[in-house]
Parts: sequence; structure tokens; C-alpha cells
Amino acid sequence: MAALGVNIDHVATVRQARRTIEPDPVWAAAEAELGGATCITFHLRKDRRHIQDRDAELLKKTVQCKLNMEMSLDEEIVGIALRLRPDQATLVPENRQEITTEGGLDVIAHADRMADVAKRLGDAGIVVSAFIDPAAAQVAASAEAGCCAIELHTGAYANACLAGSSMPDQRKQADELAELRQGLESGQAAGLVVHAGHGLTYTNVGPVAVMKSFAEFNIGHSIIARAVFVGLRDAVAQMKRLIE
Ligand code: PXP
Repeated sequence: MAALGVNIDHVATVRQARRTIEPDPVWAAAEAELGGATCITFHLRKDRRHIQDRDAELLKKTVQCKLNMEMSLDEEIVGIALRLRPDQATLVPENRQEITTEGGLDVIAHADRMADVAKRLGDAGIVVSAFIDPAAAQVAASAEAGCCAIELHTGAYANACLAGSSMPDQRKQADELAELRQGLESGQAAGLVVHAGHGLTYTNVGPVAVMKSFAEFNIGHSIIARAVFVGLRDAVAQMKRLIE
């Protein structure tokens, strides 16, 4: 059964809007686990716009399921990951202007740096994953760089809407699903564990979940948005039922 990784950055975003102590993403992680999360995901960004160093340290001490740290290839952040030793590190691109992670990491362009970082993280016992677009060349480069896993970027599928509308463009969605299926197959053929994430919601997760072979889904915004109304424990349980 696929793991459900709940991304708790959005809780920290609300806290940082007031630079106060609440809501605490560490509490959110505990609530998410009580709702059935099997992985807690956080992104310690270079600009510390949401998760803070204190959060990362407390998450490491308190999370009882798998802890997945999203991180860039920046040396300061790599040093923190090596000290913290999360169970898994998902290498992502980072751009200070973006609202959220926009595209997949270009593993081909950063091949040398990727191989160096993947080796150091791997030597520290951390499972290394790369967040990539579902392109065969990026999948191959991730395996070549020494990653054990990849997370396929589901944003193009999730955002496939009719022009000027929020209604799904079913033809475009079908094309993007076919790309994801191909990425999944090439990842497995290369011996990689394949995850998926970004932009997944209660309404669009179904067609990705039925592909069955994804080992992990990382979902944040939609779960935290629903939690505002139903509570985090329920929101996680509802998503877990959908991916099962
Ligand atoms: N996976 C990765 C690598 C991400 O960067 C993010 C966003 O932080 C997610 C999954 C979760 O995306 P969303 O918040 O759209 O569910």
C-alpha cells in the first residue's frame, strides 16, 4: 500500500504570516500521524519562509513514522540534513521568487552536484529521492546520480485545466497521466522506488492512485486546506481512504 506523506509546510506558513508560535507544524505532524499519515514531509528552504530550524529539529525528535525532508542542493541545507538525518531526503529545485516548488529538479544539468550530494546523504544512511518531471532522461539521470527513489512531479497533471477556467481539461489530463505512467515504468525499470506529488487534491488523486505502483504520495496544500474545516486528523484520514 502506498505511503501517505503529509506535507506540513503550509501550517508553518500560517504561523510565519504573524511570526508567532501558532499553529505549530510539530503539532500538525502528530495530528497527521493520528489520522493515518505514514510519512511526514517538510521542506527546510534556504529562505526559511515556512519551516524553521527549530521545527526540523523537533520533527526529527518527535515524528514516529517516516520523516522526509525536502531540500535543495545548497551546501548549508545539505549540512543540516547530514546532522539531522531524516529517513529520506527529497532533492528539489528552489527559487526564491516561486510561491511553491514549480518544476522538477533538472538532474541532468546538476549531475555532478547531484552525485556528490546523493553520495554524502546516502553514506549517512538517508534514502535519497529526486523530485523530477516524468521524463525518461531525468529518470535515467537520477538513477545515474545514485538516487534510490524519485518523486514524479504531478503538477502538470493536476493543473491541466481548460483555458481560463478551473475545470479539468480531460484530454490534457489523460496525456499527463500517460506521461506519469511512463515515468513510473521507467523508474521501476531503473530499479528506483517511485513516489508522486504536487498539486494532488481530493478530487484529482484517484486516477494517479489507481496506477497502484507508486510507493508514496506527498500531499500538502489540499489536506491542510480541508483541515481548516474538518480538522487535520479527519482530513488525513479522508485522503488516506482515497489513495487506498
Ligand atoms: N512534493 C514536493 C517535492 C513538493 O515540493 C511539494 C510542495 O511543497 C509537495 C510534494 C506537496 O505539494 P502540494 O502542497 O501541492 O500538495
